[in-house]
Amino acid sequence: MPARIRATSTPRDADACASVMRSLPDYFDHHALEQAPLDVRRHGAWLLEDSDQLVSFLVAERRGRTAEILWMATRPDSRHRGHGTLLMEHVLAELQREGVVMVEVKTLDASADYEPYEATRAFYERMGFVHLDTIDPYPGWEPGNPCAIYVTALGARPQGAAP
Ligand SMILES: CC(C)(COP(=O)(O)OP(=O)(O)OC[C@H]1O[C@@H](n2cnc3c(N)ncnc32)[C@H](O)[C@@H]1OP(=O)(O)O)[C@@H](O)C(=O)NCCC(=O)NCCS
Repeated sequence: MPARIRATSTPRDADACASVMRSLPDYFDHHALEQAPLDVRRHGAWLLEDSDQLVSFLVAERRGRTAEILWMATRPDSRHRGHGTLLMEHVLAELQREGVVMVEVKTLDASADYEPYEATRAFYERMGFVHLDTIDPYPGWEPGNPCAIYVTALGARPQGAAP
């Protein structure tokens, strides 16, 4: 069965997302493992599945005309094969269709000098996100984790304009 993308917010799918995160210990701590399933249930997630197996997921919180990507991960044995790109393009197109004009994602800043997140920032930049600001310390984040704020614009139209 070819890869497919579906939206979900079920507890079972939330647990499946957490299990992908558990397999990436260089990226996600215990706080993330507790919070992400709650966010899947509250905000929903998009899952990319191959042969009914979860490969990659993305959680976004919509805030009117803006949205924030809260969580994203691809199973370690499936990274760097284009799944994340496919999923991100799908989600950005869907958010744009819903009227979202600006999308934000927060990640670990380069000044942390932590190698695993170099590829993460490169991925977001390749997907069209630009580094807007760094906030350190970021409220709610553990000390020593400078927060890089990335944004991408989805082609704003005046509100109420014809589609
Ligand atoms: C960031 C992440 C979600 C991207 O997902 P992915 O499925 O690996 O994404 P892609 O495969 O589409 O792209 C990743 C890389 O693979 C390369 N790639 C894409 N398609 C490819 C293909 N068909 N063949 C070979 N390489 C490919 C891309 O060039 C990209 O490299 P780059 O990031 O150095 O530019 C994933 O790597 C991940 O889970 N990282 C750890 C968790 C994380 O950082 N989450 C975000 C927290 S803020």
